[in-house]
Amino acid sequence: MSYENILVAQNDGIATITINRPKKLNALNRDTIQELHNAFEKLNDDAHTKVIILTGSGEKAFVAGADISEFADFSVDEGGKLAAKGQELLFDFVQNLGTPVIAAVNGFALGGGLELAMAAHFRIASDNAKMGLPEVSLGVIPGYGGTQRLPQLVGKGKAMEMVMTAGMIGADEALQCGLVNHVTTQEELLPLANKLASKIMRNSLVAIRGAIKAINANYEDGVNGFKTEIEEFGNCFGTEDFKEGTTAFLEKRKADFPGK
Ligand code: COA
Repeated sequence: MSYENILVAQNDGIATITINRPKKLNALNRDTIQELHNAFEKLNDDAHTKVIILTGSGEKAFVAGADISEFADFSVDEGGKLAAKGQELLFDFVQNLGTPVIAAVNGFALGGGLELAMAAHFRIASDNAKMGLPEVSLGVIPGYGGTQRLPQLVGKGKAMEMVMTAGMIGADEALQCGLVNHVTTQEELLPLANKLASKIMRNSLVAIRGAIKAINANYEDGVNGFKTEIEEFGNCFGTEDFKEGTTAFLEKRKADFPGK
Protein backbone atom coordinates (compact mmCIF):
# COMPACT_ATOMS: atom_id res chain seq x y z
CA MET A 1 0.00 0.00 0.00
CA SER A 2 1.40 3.41 -0.88
CA TYR A 3 0.74 6.51 1.18
CA GLU A 4 1.12 10.23 0.47
CA ASN A 5 1.03 11.67 3.97
CA ILE A 6 2.66 9.02 6.12
CA LEU A 7 5.75 6.81 6.01
CA VAL A 8 5.74 3.24 7.26
CA ALA A 9 8.99 1.45 8.07
CA GLN A 10 9.37 -2.05 9.46
CA ASN A 11 12.34 -3.44 11.28
CA ASP A 12 12.49 -6.69 13.22
CA GLY A 13 8.87 -6.72 14.35
CA ILE A 14 8.74 -3.00 15.11
CA ALA A 15 6.78 -0.79 12.70
CA THR A 16 7.27 2.96 12.74
CA ILE A 17 4.57 5.18 11.30
CA THR A 18 5.77 8.74 10.64
CA ILE A 19 3.20 11.41 9.87
CA ASN A 20 4.86 13.21 7.00
CA ARG A 21 3.50 16.68 6.24
CA PRO A 22 6.33 18.67 7.82
CA LYS A 23 5.49 21.88 5.94
CA LYS A 24 2.09 21.85 7.67
CA LEU A 25 3.61 20.67 10.95
CA ASN A 26 2.05 17.26 10.23
CA ALA A 27 -1.50 18.61 10.68
CA LEU A 28 -4.12 15.90 10.32
CA ASN A 29 -6.19 16.41 7.21
CA ARG A 30 -8.87 13.97 6.05
CA ASP A 31 -6.51 11.97 3.82
CA THR A 32 -3.91 11.61 6.56
CA ILE A 33 -6.53 10.29 8.99
CA GLN A 34 -7.68 7.75 6.40
CA GLU A 35 -4.10 6.71 5.61
CA LEU A 36 -3.32 6.31 9.30
CA HIS A 37 -6.40 4.14 9.70
CA ASN A 38 -5.35 1.97 6.76
CA ALA A 39 -1.78 1.64 8.03
CA PHE A 40 -2.79 0.77 11.60
CA GLU A 41 -5.31 -1.77 10.34
CA LYS A 42 -2.80 -3.40 8.01
CA LEU A 43 -0.03 -3.54 10.63
CA ASN A 44 -2.43 -4.91 13.24
CA ASP A 45 -3.33 -7.75 10.86
CA ASP A 46 0.31 -8.46 10.08
CA ALA A 47 1.69 -11.29 12.22
CA HIS A 48 5.25 -9.94 11.86
CA THR A 49 4.39 -6.58 13.43
CA LYS A 50 4.64 -6.80 17.20
CA VAL A 51 4.74 -3.14 18.25
CA ILE A 52 3.93 0.14 16.46
CA ILE A 53 5.73 3.42 17.08
CA LEU A 54 3.96 6.60 15.96
CA THR A 55 5.89 9.83 15.41
CA GLY A 56 6.01 13.00 13.33
CA SER A 57 8.39 13.98 10.58
CA GLY A 58 10.86 16.83 11.03
CA GLU A 59 12.27 18.32 14.19
CA LYS A 60 9.45 20.68 14.99
CA ALA A 61 6.21 18.77 15.36
CA PHE A 62 4.59 15.49 16.21
CA VAL A 63 1.26 16.83 14.93
CA ALA A 64 0.14 20.49 15.25
CA GLY A 65 -3.54 19.54 15.26
CA ALA A 66 -6.38 18.81 12.94
CA ASP A 67 -5.98 20.67 9.67
CA ILE A 68 -7.80 23.93 10.43
CA SER A 69 -8.07 24.84 6.74
CA GLU A 70 -10.36 21.85 6.16
CA PHE A 71 -13.08 22.66 8.67
CA ALA A 72 -13.05 26.47 8.94
CA ASP A 73 -16.39 26.80 7.07
CA PHE A 74 -18.18 23.71 8.38
CA SER A 75 -21.82 23.69 9.56
CA VAL A 76 -23.03 22.21 12.87
CA ASP A 77 -23.87 18.96 11.12
CA GLU A 78 -20.54 18.75 9.32
CA GLY A 79 -18.66 19.54 12.55
CA GLY A 80 -20.38 16.70 14.39
CA LYS A 81 -19.70 14.28 11.55
CA LEU A 82 -16.03 15.32 11.41
CA ALA A 83 -15.55 14.43 15.07
CA ALA A 84 -17.55 11.19 14.85
CA LYS A 85 -15.75 9.93 11.76
CA GLY A 86 -12.30 10.86 13.07
CA GLN A 87 -12.92 9.17 16.41
CA GLU A 88 -14.14 6.01 14.73
CA LEU A 89 -11.46 5.83 12.03
CA LEU A 90 -8.44 6.79 14.06
CA PHE A 91 -8.63 7.76 17.71
CA ASP A 92 -10.86 4.98 19.09
CA PHE A 93 -9.35 2.63 16.55
CA VAL A 94 -5.82 3.20 17.87
CA GLN A 95 -6.88 3.01 21.50
CA ASN A 96 -8.53 -0.36 20.90
CA LEU A 97 -5.83 -1.80 18.67
CA GLY A 98 -4.52 -5.18 19.89
CA THR A 99 -0.98 -4.29 18.81
CA PRO A 100 0.77 -1.99 21.30
CA VAL A 101 1.15 1.59 20.05
CA ILE A 102 3.78 3.95 21.50
CA ALA A 103 3.55 7.64 20.61
CA ALA A 104 6.99 9.26 20.32
CA VAL A 105 6.15 12.96 20.67
CA ASN A 106 8.97 14.86 18.96
CA GLY A 107 7.73 18.46 19.07
CA PHE A 108 4.34 20.21 19.01
CA ALA A 109 1.46 17.87 19.89
CA LEU A 110 -1.50 20.19 19.80
CA GLY A 111 -5.24 19.63 19.46
CA GLY A 112 -5.77 16.53 17.33
CA GLY A 113 -2.03 15.84 17.67
CA LEU A 114 -2.20 15.52 21.42
CA GLU A 115 -5.47 13.64 21.06
CA LEU A 116 -3.74 11.17 18.76
CA ALA A 117 -0.82 10.78 21.18
CA MET A 118 -3.32 10.20 23.98
CA ALA A 119 -5.11 7.53 21.96
CA ALA A 120 -1.82 5.59 21.77
CA HIS A 121 -1.26 3.08 24.57
CA PHE A 122 1.44 5.26 26.11
CA ARG A 123 3.62 8.25 25.25
CA ILE A 124 7.23 9.31 25.46
CA ALA A 125 8.49 12.78 24.52
CA SER A 126 11.58 14.66 23.47
CA ASP A 127 12.63 17.59 25.65
CA ASN A 128 11.49 20.13 23.02
CA ALA A 129 7.91 18.77 22.98
CA LYS A 130 5.03 21.14 23.62
CA MET A 131 1.60 19.74 24.32
CA GLY A 132 -1.82 21.29 24.61
CA LEU A 133 -5.45 21.38 23.54
CA PRO A 134 -5.81 24.94 22.13
CA GLU A 135 -9.22 24.38 20.51
CA VAL A 136 -11.12 26.95 22.58
CA SER A 137 -8.78 29.61 21.18
CA LEU A 138 -10.40 28.79 17.83
CA GLY A 139 -13.93 28.81 19.21
CA VAL A 140 -14.33 25.04 19.24
CA ILE A 141 -13.70 22.25 21.76
CA PRO A 142 -11.50 19.16 21.40
CA GLY A 143 -13.43 16.73 19.21
CA TYR A 144 -11.17 13.73 18.87
CA GLY A 145 -11.54 12.44 22.42
CA GLY A 146 -9.47 15.12 24.16
CA THR A 147 -12.07 16.05 26.76
CA GLN A 148 -12.23 12.39 27.79
CA ARG A 149 -8.67 11.13 27.54
CA LEU A 150 -6.87 14.17 28.97
CA PRO A 151 -8.67 14.00 32.37
CA GLN A 152 -8.10 10.23 32.40
CA LEU A 153 -4.36 10.84 32.14
CA VAL A 154 -3.74 14.05 34.10
CA GLY A 155 -6.84 14.39 36.32
CA LYS A 156 -9.89 16.60 35.94
CA GLY A 157 -8.52 19.84 37.37
CA LYS A 158 -5.35 19.86 35.29
CA ALA A 159 -7.35 18.95 32.17
CA MET A 160 -9.84 21.75 32.84
CA GLU A 161 -6.98 24.24 33.18
CA MET A 162 -5.21 23.05 30.03
CA VAL A 163 -8.41 23.13 27.96
CA MET A 164 -9.69 26.46 29.32
CA THR A 165 -6.39 28.32 29.04
CA ALA A 166 -5.62 26.72 25.63
CA GLY A 167 -2.03 26.75 26.87
CA MET A 168 0.88 24.47 26.11
CA ILE A 169 2.92 22.50 28.60
CA GLY A 170 6.51 21.40 28.09
CA ALA A 171 7.89 17.88 28.29
CA ASP A 172 8.92 18.06 31.94
CA GLU A 173 5.49 19.21 33.06
CA ALA A 174 3.90 16.53 30.88
CA LEU A 175 6.10 13.96 32.62
CA GLN A 176 5.19 15.33 36.02
CA CYS A 177 1.44 15.13 35.38
CA GLY A 178 1.48 11.67 33.80
CA LEU A 179 0.81 12.71 30.22
CA VAL A 180 4.07 11.12 29.06
CA ASN A 181 6.07 8.30 30.64
CA HIS A 182 9.62 9.35 29.70
CA VAL A 183 11.44 12.44 28.44
CA THR A 184 14.64 12.30 26.48
CA THR A 185 16.61 14.29 23.92
CA GLN A 186 15.33 14.47 20.36
CA GLU A 187 18.17 12.20 19.15
CA GLU A 188 17.38 9.60 21.79
CA LEU A 189 13.61 9.61 21.30
CA LEU A 190 13.26 6.92 18.63
CA PRO A 191 16.05 4.77 20.13
CA LEU A 192 14.15 4.86 23.44
CA ALA A 193 10.87 4.02 21.70
CA ASN A 194 12.59 1.08 20.01
CA LYS A 195 14.11 -0.05 23.30
CA LEU A 196 10.70 -0.03 24.97
CA ALA A 197 9.20 -1.83 21.98
CA SER A 198 11.89 -4.54 22.19
CA LYS A 199 11.14 -5.00 25.87
CA ILE A 200 7.42 -5.38 25.12
CA MET A 201 8.12 -7.88 22.33
CA ARG A 202 9.80 -10.32 24.70
CA ASN A 203 6.43 -10.94 26.35
CA SER A 204 3.32 -12.71 25.16
CA LEU A 205 1.61 -10.44 22.67
CA VAL A 206 -1.58 -12.47 23.03
CA ALA A 207 -1.59 -11.70 26.76
CA ILE A 208 -0.75 -8.06 26.04
CA ARG A 209 -3.76 -7.86 23.71
CA GLY A 210 -5.98 -9.11 26.54
CA ALA A 211 -4.40 -6.65 28.98
CA ILE A 212 -5.02 -3.71 26.61
CA LYS A 213 -8.67 -4.74 26.38
CA ALA A 214 -9.02 -5.09 30.15
CA ILE A 215 -7.31 -1.76 30.91
CA ASN A 216 -9.40 0.05 28.28
CA ALA A 217 -12.56 -1.49 29.78
CA ASN A 218 -12.02 0.66 32.88
CA TYR A 219 -12.80 3.73 30.79
CA GLU A 220 -15.79 2.41 28.86
CA ASP A 221 -19.26 3.47 29.84
CA GLY A 222 -21.43 0.65 31.12
CA VAL A 223 -18.62 -1.92 31.00
CA ASN A 224 -17.44 -3.66 34.15
CA GLY A 225 -13.65 -3.73 33.79
CA PHE A 226 -13.25 -6.39 36.48
CA LYS A 227 -15.52 -8.69 34.47
CA THR A 228 -13.53 -7.99 31.31
CA GLU A 229 -10.34 -8.80 33.21
CA ILE A 230 -11.77 -12.12 34.47
CA GLU A 231 -12.82 -13.03 30.93
CA GLU A 232 -9.46 -12.08 29.38
CA PHE A 233 -7.57 -13.80 32.20
CA GLY A 234 -9.53 -17.00 31.59
CA ASN A 235 -8.94 -16.81 27.83
CA CYS A 236 -5.17 -16.84 28.41
CA PHE A 237 -5.40 -20.40 29.74
CA GLY A 238 -6.39 -21.60 26.28
CA THR A 239 -3.41 -20.06 24.49
CA GLU A 240 -0.14 -21.61 23.35
CA ASP A 241 1.66 -18.57 24.78
CA PHE A 242 0.42 -19.43 28.28
CA LYS A 243 1.64 -23.02 27.93
CA GLU A 244 5.01 -21.81 26.69
CA GLY A 245 5.32 -19.08 29.35
CA THR A 246 4.57 -21.34 32.29
CA THR A 247 6.56 -24.29 30.89
CA ALA A 248 9.59 -22.08 30.26
CA PHE A 249 9.40 -20.73 33.80
CA LEU A 250 9.25 -24.22 35.30
CA GLU A 251 12.10 -25.40 33.03
CA LYS A 252 14.13 -22.32 34.04
CA ARG A 253 14.54 -21.09 30.48
CA LYS A 254 13.51 -18.02 28.53
CA ALA A 255 10.06 -18.25 26.96
CA ASP A 256 9.81 -18.29 23.19
CA PHE A 257 6.23 -17.22 22.65
CA PRO A 258 4.53 -18.47 19.48
CA GLY A 259 2.07 -15.53 19.64
CA LYS A 260 -1.01 -17.76 19.59
N1 COA B 1 -3.84 23.16 10.60
C1 COA B 1 -3.45 23.59 9.39
N2 COA B 1 -2.25 24.12 9.15
C2 COA B 1 -1.40 24.21 10.18
C3 COA B 1 -1.74 23.78 11.47
C4 COA B 1 -3.03 23.22 11.67
N3 COA B 1 -3.44 22.76 12.84
N4 COA B 1 -0.69 24.01 12.30
C5 COA B 1 0.26 24.56 11.55
N5 COA B 1 -0.15 24.70 10.26
C6 COA B 1 0.58 25.24 9.12
C7 COA B 1 0.63 26.76 9.15
O1 COA B 1 -0.56 27.29 8.63
C8 COA B 1 1.83 27.03 8.29
O2 COA B 1 1.46 26.83 6.96
P1 COA B 1 1.96 27.92 5.82
O3 COA B 1 3.47 27.87 5.87
O4 COA B 1 1.38 27.39 4.54
O5 COA B 1 1.40 29.23 6.25
C9 COA B 1 2.77 25.88 8.65
O6 COA B 1 1.94 24.85 9.19
C10 COA B 1 3.81 26.24 9.67
O7 COA B 1 3.17 26.76 10.82
P2 COA B 1 3.52 28.17 11.48
O8 COA B 1 2.32 28.65 12.22
O9 COA B 1 4.09 29.11 10.46
O10 COA B 1 4.67 27.75 12.51
P3 COA B 1 5.08 28.47 13.85
O11 COA B 1 6.35 27.84 14.28
O12 COA B 1 5.04 29.95 13.69
O13 COA B 1 3.92 28.10 14.90
C11 COA B 1 2.38 26.61 16.01
C12 COA B 1 3.75 26.76 15.32
C13 COA B 1 2.17 25.12 16.28
C14 COA B 1 2.37 27.38 17.34
C15 COA B 1 1.27 27.15 15.08
O14 COA B 1 1.43 26.57 13.81
C16 COA B 1 -0.13 26.87 15.54
O15 COA B 1 -0.62 27.51 16.46
N6 COA B 1 -0.81 25.90 14.89
C17 COA B 1 -2.18 25.58 15.19
C18 COA B 1 -2.31 24.81 16.47
C19 COA B 1 -3.74 24.50 16.80
O16 COA B 1 -4.52 25.38 17.10
N7 COA B 1 -4.10 23.23 16.73
C20 COA B 1 -5.40 22.77 17.06
C21 COA B 1 -6.22 22.64 15.85
S1 COA B 1 -7.85 22.09 16.26
